[in-house]
Amino acid sequence: MSMQTRMWKKLNHPQKNDEAVREAAQLLLDQQVVAFPTETVYGLGADATNKQAVQRIFEAKGRPSDNPLIVHVSDRAQVESLTTEIPPVAAELMDAFWPGPLTLIFHSNGAAAENVTAGLGTVAVRMPDHPLALALLKAADKPLAAPSANRSGRPSPTTASHVYQDLDGRIAGILNGGSTGVGLESTVLDITADIPVILRPGGVTKEDLETVLPRVVVDPALAGGTEEAPKSPGMKYKHYAPEAPLWLVEGKDSFFAETLAACKARGERVGIIASRELADAIDHDRIIRCGSRRHLSEVAESLYGALRAFKEADVDVILCESFPETGVGAAVMNRLNKAAEKKVKDQ
Ligand code: TXA
Ligand code: MG
Repeated sequence: MSMQTRMWKKLNHPQKNDEAVREAAQLLLDQQVVAFPTETVYGLGADATNKQAVQRIFEAKGRPSDNPLIVHVSDRAQVESLTTEIPPVAAELMDAFWPGPLTLIFHSNGAAAENVTAGLGTVAVRMPDHPLALALLKAADKPLAAPSANRSGRPSPTTASHVYQDLDGRIAGILNGGSTGVGLESTVLDITADIPVILRPGGVTKEDLETVLPRVVVDPALAGGTEEAPKSPGMKYKHYAPEAPLWLVEGKDSFFAETLAACKARGERVGIIASRELADAIDHDRIIRCGSRRHLSEVAESLYGALRAFKEADVDVILCESFPETGVGAAVMNRLNKAAEKKVKDQ
């Protein structure tokens, strides 16, 4: 597979009749795939009602076909066009959190292509909070299936150049909207059960959901330690892997410093991903700072860029700080646990 990938100029105030947006929409109507920014990460879009177009997403990413896709919409009518019914709880959640980083699982009416839903009978839908994503959705006038626009297994892209690194020559085009804001993917919430279940923690936190829902639970399979496979099929695959092995270090800053010293004593070249607080406390030259440990939204925003920053040629191992699992920290630690080859804990 090799094709010319269009890179349009960065759009700061996108409209649905901008030339770049119209060209990208036309490619989508021609069953091609186009990457676009959302408020979470860049997505790789295709017409969600067209099986052949959706197939191209799986080919471009190298994605396993049993992993279903999120359908992006720009209005409620498109939600109705994809689902058997919109339960009252969904209406409340959409009022509270859309557009925004919350994906809802509905019963599918079969309008989404079968490879979008992986034959599950349900369909994942969200309305992204990004002017360029919304302009593209309106110009194409189709719901768009869009997974994160990375090669399968890699960290999700938070800039157009991350998309280019992974998918140049494999997709029809990339719309550039600069850096994404949230930095981690949407929360996936299953509302087909009596009690809503968080299948993937994300930008809308459990605490946020509890302001609207009387009860919400986290899929027990996410915590690990159970025999059950996670209900969100994508959660079982290796994910977000940087080029060098990542060790997730848990303990006091002094324990992190000891772990670093032990690596150096073995002659290993070490890269570090740390909060500014930890970075200030240790003496090392290859550190990527990912915001403050007291402001976990900063960590979320910069995490994927940090995971992409260390190249195989430069480091033997990446040591990464562990963060509290409150608020968006739950999503940060979910991704880091998946990215990690090994966890190192203070005894
Ligand atoms: O923020 C996001 O959600 C980004 C942007 C581009 O919108 N998209 C994204 O898509 O992260 P993706 O494909 O990388 O992740 C989709 C997740 C996977 O874990 C998948 O298994 C789950 O949603 N999913 C999709 N449809 C589902 C369904 N019907 N039932 C359960 N899980 C589903
Ligand atoms: Mg993904």
